[in-house]
Amino acid sequence: MKEQIEKVFTEKFGGGPFITITTPSRANLIGEHIDYQGGYVLPAGVDRFIFSCGRKRKDNRIKLLSFNYNQYFETDTENIIYQKKYKWANYILGVLAEYRKLGYDIPGIEIAIGGNIPVGSGLSSSAAVEISIAVLFQKITGIEIEPLELIKLARRAENEFVGVSCGIMDQFSIYLSKKDNALLINCKTLEYRYVPLLMDGLKFLLVDTKKERSLSSSVYNSRVASVKEAVGIIRQYRDIEFLTEIDDITPYKDKLSEETYKRALHIVEENKRVLEAVSCLERNDFNGFGELMYQSHKSLKKLYEVSCEELDFIVGFAKNIDGVKGARLTGAGMGGCALVLLEESIISQFISELTPLYQKTFGINPEFYLFQPVDGALYQNP
Ligand code: GLA
Repeated sequence: MKEQIEKVFTEKFGGGPFITITTPSRANLIGEHIDYQGGYVLPAGVDRFIFSCGRKRKDNRIKLLSFNYNQYFETDTENIIYQKKYKWANYILGVLAEYRKLGYDIPGIEIAIGGNIPVGSGLSSSAAVEISIAVLFQKITGIEIEPLELIKLARRAENEFVGVSCGIMDQFSIYLSKKDNALLINCKTLEYRYVPLLMDGLKFLLVDTKKERSLSSSVYNSRVASVKEAVGIIRQYRDIEFLTEIDDITPYKDKLSEETYKRALHIVEENKRVLEAVSCLERNDFNGFGELMYQSHKSLKKLYEVSCEELDFIVGFAKNIDGVKGARLTGAGMGGCALVLLEESIISQFISELTPLYQKTFGINPEFYLFQPVDGALYQNP
């Protein structure tokens, strides 16, 4: 794949030296929809990648080629503005716009980008593009900003240029994940540490629902807004910045609408589950970890209401198979992938039994990605 992108770069822009950046995707093991409320999350790098090739130009043109969309877009450095027609280009332009806001000069640049992260599957191909471009920009200009600043810049590109109010988890993990580890992030303080995944005979399997997620960003933004509203109401009684600072939400039940209370309850409980999940991993208690995955899914389904029939079907199926430890939706939900923790020896049985049932129920074939936690973009591009 990397060679293919490098080849199209040379075909389009000509020979000579250029830089290639390798950027993985991510799956969140647990801690869903709480990063934007200062919670703990536990993602890991996934071995599906975005490759971006690029170099500076002598003029002020910005030339962008998307391998996956087979599209070309061109503008100049004075016109870094949102593109309705070339949506993929916004993840690149947004990063350039953020570097400019920090006061850096944006040179003319030519980039070819592509990879094998399935789009819309909840593996955060968008954050992978943002991080990839942020790293590429540094390598070709020689500018260097601190890791946390780079992560925040990539997130702002998505918040402000693309218009999705995402939290910081995706950009964080895609940049700083480490091979064979999960990454525990405190999204309030931005402190983090690595948690080794000693997966003796067990594997994480992603099951892609292949469901179209057309309304997902508006549902996402509305969840972000509704939990912010809960913070505003609770602030009348107690000084908090985020819901995850609250240990017990029940005293505020009658202050919140029924719906907002359910959302807030998910946040408070999911945050606690993450720390329990880490202590399970630290004592190699994968049964306990798997149980927390099921609880997380139930809460995302019933309280946060970001699951869908397809995801529930996969999780329900998984629960009835011997050798499966746990399953849950991963990422924003409403489609995308379920994450299943299971014994290596039953993977082919799991796939061959689930596929025809899923196909019969929904008329589409699910896809499966077995993944090995990999290094983030910082370590992939020394
Ligand atoms: C998306 C967002 C993340 C996070 C997850 C849900 O992936 O980009 O910031 O909120 O959804 O946990």
